[in-house]
Amino acid sequence: MKFSLISVLSAASAAVLLTLSAVPASALPAAPAAVQSIEKRASEIEGLNNYSCKPANGQRPVILVHATLLTLNSWDDVAPVLIKRGFCVFALTYGVNKAVPGGFGGLNTIESSAQELANFANNVLKQTNSTQVDIVGHSQGGILARYWIKYLDGKGKVYRHVGVSPINHGTTLSNIVTIAKTFGLFYPSQDLFDKFAPSFYQMVNTSEFIKKLNAGGDFAPGVIHSNIATKYDEVVTPYETCWQKGAGITNLLLQDLCMLSLNEHLTMVNSNVVIQFILNQLDPVTAKTANCLAIVKGF
Ligand SMILES: *[C@@H]1O[C@H](CO)[C@@H](O)[C@H](O)[C@H]1NC(C)=O
Ligand SMILES: *[C@@H]1O[C@H](CO)[C@@H](O)[C@H](O)[C@H]1NC(C)=O
Ligand SMILES: *[C@@H]1O[C@H](CO)[C@@H](O)[C@H](O)[C@H]1NC(C)=O
Repeated sequence: MKFSLISVLSAASAAVLLTLSAVPASALPAAPAAVQSIEKRASEIEGLNNYSCKPANGQRPVILVHATLLTLNSWDDVAPVLIKRGFCVFALTYGVNKAVPGGFGGLNTIESSAQELANFANNVLKQTNSTQVDIVGHSQGGILARYWIKYLDGKGKVYRHVGVSPINHGTTLSNIVTIAKTFGLFYPSQDLFDKFAPSFYQMVNTSEFIKKLNAGGDFAPGVIHSNIATKYDEVVTPYETCWQKGAGITNLLLQDLCMLSLNEHLTMVNSNVVIQFILNQLDPVTAKTANCLAIVKGF
């Protein structure tokens, strides 16, 4: 298990507290070691973002969209498996606020992050001579494409959408407060969050953003949607808020595939059962049931 919410958040907390102490950026120490090790893995995902890759017949480029506080490095278990299976795999890091050290993604307004995804995806379509992409999105990354399709220029450009603990219906204010406390902020105010990480309050289930996202339906017509969630989610509660309500949408609980799995919100992308779920969605013809007992690591 590479990530835990606490380890990522405590790195984040150090970064944010440094920012808040109004020290000039040049005087700040380097990002905490945990963050550096996450960053270091970025360039090690071999074959990722290869714009010479030609999707095989019946396949589309696959774009991976990470969660709040993470970066494209969080796909370092998922991406190599997809690449080995012959998919053309792309990933971006979005929502980085340069005023917050550490390179955390997913901090900026969700609208601006959706625009970053739009720009990235339009470039992938152009460079690979494709008309559609498949998207796999984790947490906040699981709703950006829906915003792209509904409110930007994404209509018709997404074939499949796989959500890994996607925040389709937002999270609760109390979870945001829990995160804020982990940041070391006792009475976290929205003002404070809005300064360095406006996405946080936009993820609350009653926010204007979530209302707008789901106005007229919580899925994109014509897109094949599927979602996987975990019982042990500490960010998206209750986990059923990950589900989408359209006909024909697959909504699956990780523990229904693998009763013993203890994966929580951030480690979902390190689970081999989740990786098998993603493969099954992207290539239903060769779909296999993940046998969690046969999996040594990360079930
Ligand atoms: C990129 O894709 C091309 C075309 O499939 C392939 O020849 C090349 O080896 C790939 N490069 C990497 C770094 O995977
Ligand atoms: C896309 O099409 C252009 C022009 O036909 C070609 O030069 C390029 O190699 C193609 N790229 C891929 C990844 O197929
Ligand atoms: C938001 O979450 C709270 C806490 O679970 C719940 O009571 C409330 O009904 C939710 N509101 C909406 C609009 O989903």
